[in-house]
Parts: sequence; C-alpha cells; structure tokens
Amino acid sequence: MDFLSNKPLLITDTILRDAHQSQAATRMTLEDMLPACEVLDSIGYYSLECWGGATFDSCMRFLDEDPWVRLRTLRAHLPHTKLQMLFRGQNILGYKHYADDVVDMFCAKSIENGIDIIRIFDALNDIRNLEQAIKSTKKYGGHVEATLSYTISPIHNEDYFVDLAKQLEQMGADSLCIKDMANLLLPMDAYSLVKRLKETVSMPIHLHTHNTTGTGDMVNLMAAYAGVDIVDTALSPLANGTSQPATESLVATLKGTVRDTGLDLGKMSEAAVHFRKVAQRLKDTGALDPKVLNVDTNTLLYQVPGGMLSNLISQLKQAGKEDKYYDVLAEIPRVREDFGYPPLVTPSSQIVGTQAVMNIITGERYKMIPKESRAMLKGEYGKLPGVVNEEVRAKAGIKPEEVVTCRPADLLEPELPKYRAEYAGLAQSEEDVLSLALFPQVAPNFIKRRNLRTPPLPRTIEPLEHREQERSVAPISRG
Ligand code: CO
Repeated sequence: MDFLSNKPLLITDTILRDAHQSQAATRMTLEDMLPACEVLDSIGYYSLECWGGATFDSCMRFLDEDPWVRLRTLRAHLPHTKLQMLFRGQNILGYKHYADDVVDMFCAKSIENGIDIIRIFDALNDIRNLEQAIKSTKKYGGHVEATLSYTISPIHNEDYFVDLAKQLEQMGADSLCIKDMANLLLPMDAYSLVKRLKETVSMPIHLHTHNTTGTGDMVNLMAAYAGVDIVDTALSPLANGTSQPATESLVATLKGTVRDTGLDLGKMSEAAVHFRKVAQRLKDTGALDPKVLNVDTNTLLYQVPGGMLSNLISQLKQAGKEDKYYDVLAEIPRVREDFGYPPLVTPSSQIVGTQAVMNIITGERYKMIPKESRAMLKGEYGKLPGVVNEEVRAKAGIKPEEVVTCRPADLLEPELPKYRAEYAGLAQSEEDVLSLALFPQVAPNFIKRRNLRTPPLPRTIEPLEHREQERSVAPISRG
C-alpha cells in the first residue's frame, strides 16, 4: 500500500488536555505539567493541546487554580510550541448559548493570553453556531481549526461530511478537524473519508480520535496512508483506552517511511518518565480508574461514547434500576432518531442519555421530558441534523411555530455589560468576568478565595507578532 502524501506527519500531543480529561476526570494540575514543559517544548510537535474543553471548569471547581493563570504560565514555559485549545462554538466552554460579544471577548482573551490554534466545534454541526467564533478568532490573529463532529447515522454519511467541510472552508477555516470523540470512525472509513476530504478541500486535515474501542492506532495509521496532515496522540503514560493512542507508537511506526514525523523518541521517553509519576499520582488519588484503559466494544455495538456509558450506569444506580442497563442502551438510538440524529457529544450526549433513562425508568416513553430535551427539540441548540419526530415535539408542549429557525444566538442581546455590572465587586479583570459568566456556580467562590490569597498577577504578555516569529513550527504546505 502506498502513502497518498509524502509529507512528514505532524503530531499534536494531548497530554496536557484531552489525555487527562478522558482518563482522569481532568485532574492534572499546572504543577504536574511544569516540570515537563522544557522537554515537551523541544520535541517539535505541531502543537500541544493544553486548554479548553473541561480544563477551565476543572481548574476552578476541583484544583483551586485560575485557568487564565494556567494558560499564561504554560505560554511562558512553552515558548517554541503552538498552544491549542478546544472551544464549543457558541457555548464557548460552558453548557448554554452565549451572546456574540461574550464569544468575541473569549476568543480575544484566549489568544492574548497565549493560545495559537482554536479548535471550534458544534455538537449538532450547525455551522451558524461556529460563525462568531470563527470570525473572532481570525480577527485576533488566531488559527481557526473548524471541526466536523463525527458520528454515524442515516444522515451522517461521507457526502454529508465532505459537504460540511466545503462550507467550513468557505467560512475561512485555516484547517479542518475530524473530531471522532467516541472512536466510532473505523480504520477503513477513516482512509476513505480523509482521501475524499483531501481531494475536496485545500486546508490541512487534522484527525482527533480516541482508543476507546481499540481501533485508534489503526485509524491514525490508515489516515496517515490517506494523507492526513496532523493527528492527535498522547504520550504513553496517559494514552489509550478512553484517551488518544500513544504518540511514541505512531512515531515509531512511521520511522523511515515518507511520513516519518522526525520526532525524537528519546525526548519523548524523558517526558514520559515524568508523566508516569503524574499518572501514578492520579491513580493513587482515585482520579484515574484503570477500567478506562479496557477496550470497550459496547461503543461499537451501540454507537454510544464511552463517557456516556459510565454516566448511564451512575444514573441507573441512583434510581436503583441497574438491571435496566441494556434496555436503556437499546432506547438511546430510538431517542436519537426522534431528536433528528444529533451527534452524541457534550451537551447532546447528556440530553439524549438522560431522556433514554427517563423513558425506561418511568415505564412510559416521554412521560417525563427534562427542560434540556425540550430546548433541544425546540431548536435552542441549533438545527437538528435530521427530521424531528413531531409527536415527541408535541408531547414536549412545543408548537410548530415556536421552533427556532434562525441562528439561536441572534435571539440574544449583548451580555457583557450585564456580566460586568453583576460582577463589578468581584472581577479584577475581563478574564475574571468571562470566568464568572461561564461558570456562575463555581467561579464566584473560587475568585473570592483567590482574591484573599493573592494580589492580582502582573500581566506580561508578549505581542502576538513577536510570538509568531519565535515559534519554530514546521509550516504546513497546502494541497
Ligand atoms: Co477528544
């Protein structure tokens, strides 16, 4: 078999974000990260994913850390490597839609504090929910990585994703991410999808998968054959299982081929020595349950992400209905069909999962409909990919004329003035205002504690143009 590209494969390492989010409930601290920064910075990665996703919430909720200080500190310790974050479109890093001015300010502050690449996704693949984040990221000089949330359904075939990719390229994306959060993308399908995308769009393709179902390494290899430009992997101490496949294994596999990454396994081994200690600490504190390292074939059978399965088990336990597990698994695809086949990723995975649990434990489908289900059926999260079951919509008390058909954020007035006024006594910076706006349950207590403990930190941010020149990252050639 021949490689369809002869360029070195570029690697994004997720050790500082998705690896511990997926395996250890996002509990890695800044202190765990800093001793390894020098060697990480010398490896020559395309980028390090280190912020966004659940890290922001986890910092304030569990680790008593200011997420913005974490970002600034990582920026200072990783001067040569691009820093990447995960951004949930109009939801930013939270769980509801924010107004455009909040999205804009969050992009501005992320880039100002050190982010280079913003991976922007929407759970429903409604591109209107990506518009503002794409516009703002470009405005402040960031790299837009627009994202396909990958899933399988009668709607979601290869043509659907190729079409979506074309639209994202027209919207100004600098690169395209295939986000396979549940490891549902099988190796042969990865080959075929990447090949089609490379034939259709000219922006670089970046693949993000997990190893939940045990196919992750094969997915990355087949994508490398098909000419994918960049893949996400994690250093071995926190790789595999629900996390990404291991970086070292892929680097070794491609050595001596036309797609040789050129990365130094010796340096990775040095970094791994450190992160093995971190992984051990996370195991000792119970944040990392070794169960997450098992191959989970239920995901392949039921097309339900691994994280969603563990949520279901705990919801059923609380209700004393653990014996209904397989009934709920069978109900999920039916709810998903009724809801117009949303991809199962935050927040749609929780909404569909909870509705399926209610349908089973009450003994009557849609006897109980939580407000999040109602919001999704009403179109408040955006347009659902397929046709919604109108009987279910009626049961939720939604009249056809109430369904949102515009871009949901168009219904929102600017919110920053309100947040600034509300948190005037507490916030010491615009960054604080954003923390408070996104996590009103968690941020006020955190910021109160922090304000007592430390005076505001001095801000020494380099201008963007200067940073850009400093970074010795291999340029991506197009095509
Ligand atoms: Co992921």
